[in-house]
Amino acid sequence: MDDETGQTPAGGGDPLAEIEALRTDFEGEAEGVRDAAGLDDLRARYLGRKRGRLTAVFNGMRDLPPESRGAVGRAANEARQAISSRLAEIEAGLRDSGATEADALDVTLPGRSDEVGSLHPITLALEEILDVFTRMGYKVVGGPEVEHDFYNFGALNMPRDHPARDIQDTLYLGGDWLLRTHTSPVQIRTMQQQEPPLAIIVPGRVYRRDTPDATHTPSFVQCEGLLVDRDITMADLRGTLDHFAKALFGPQTETRLRPGYFPFTEPSAEMDADAGNGWIEMLGCGMVHPAVFEAVGYDPQEWQGFAFGMGVDRIAALRYGIDDIRMFYENDARFLRQFAV
Ligand code: PHE
Repeated sequence: MDDETGQTPAGGGDPLAEIEALRTDFEGEAEGVRDAAGLDDLRARYLGRKRGRLTAVFNGMRDLPPESRGAVGRAANEARQAISSRLAEIEAGLRDSGATEADALDVTLPGRSDEVGSLHPITLALEEILDVFTRMGYKVVGGPEVEHDFYNFGALNMPRDHPARDIQDTLYLGGDWLLRTHTSPVQIRTMQQQEPPLAIIVPGRVYRRDTPDATHTPSFVQCEGLLVDRDITMADLRGTLDHFAKALFGPQTETRLRPGYFPFTEPSAEMDADAGNGWIEMLGCGMVHPAVFEAVGYDPQEWQGFAFGMGVDRIAALRYGIDDIRMFYENDARFLRQFAV
């Protein structure tokens, strides 16, 4: 309750002197305003309908003799304008510095965290694959995606007229250049540069003229392995790949080899794995064909080796239970976010 009746209008009966005085007082107090509450209080004490000092001057005008009302009214209006604009100025200042109530920093709000990206599932699967083989002493090697016919086919025991070229659905670039259809050309490049023994693991992007469906995309990531040493047999291949499957899918995993065909391995096989949910095809493999060793100048009487190759998207699909590999390439954040670690 405001005791309006208790207020003395216009100090000491001289309204012009009161206007002078209240303007000076106001200026002084305006300096001290630090926040929205202080501003509201200041406004109420000068312009408030009940408490305002200037309001009291206006209210007192009806008691003034008519001849002095003009001068007092003008002075009071000037004062109201000056006070109002000063109040607006203070308010703007507070808003800029973020100190008004509405804009004030609420320290109880939970913090805003940055969204952290995650590795792509194919990258995660590839890292797991490379881990298993580097622990066994394999070196990671890369090679070009634009390849020469010799490396992609010729040196891999696929001369020009070889029917196996057809199943590779090659994207030709002109002349003898093409987009590599597999990572096997890196076998040739490495063996040309290094003397045996060697053990390499080769991740890389490959290209095929395929129509995308649940199990095919025109570009995908392969991972290739090659080991060359003395007295290497199919038992070494089998033991190595069985260990790999168990490392990837769990110790209960069983593997089997089925006869397969690749021009650059003899014998060739497909390896299936069963981690508890039935047999699934995992990779192609075989013993390095003597013609491949001859193409790179290794003596096939002295050296033997095995090689294997797998689609990393296929491994990632098996590893993470994805039934359509196109998901890997659609960049749907809702899909990819599931792999955040
Ligand atoms: N290069 C073969 C492919 O792309 C896979 C493979 C690699 C098979 C090495 C045997 C040995 O299908």
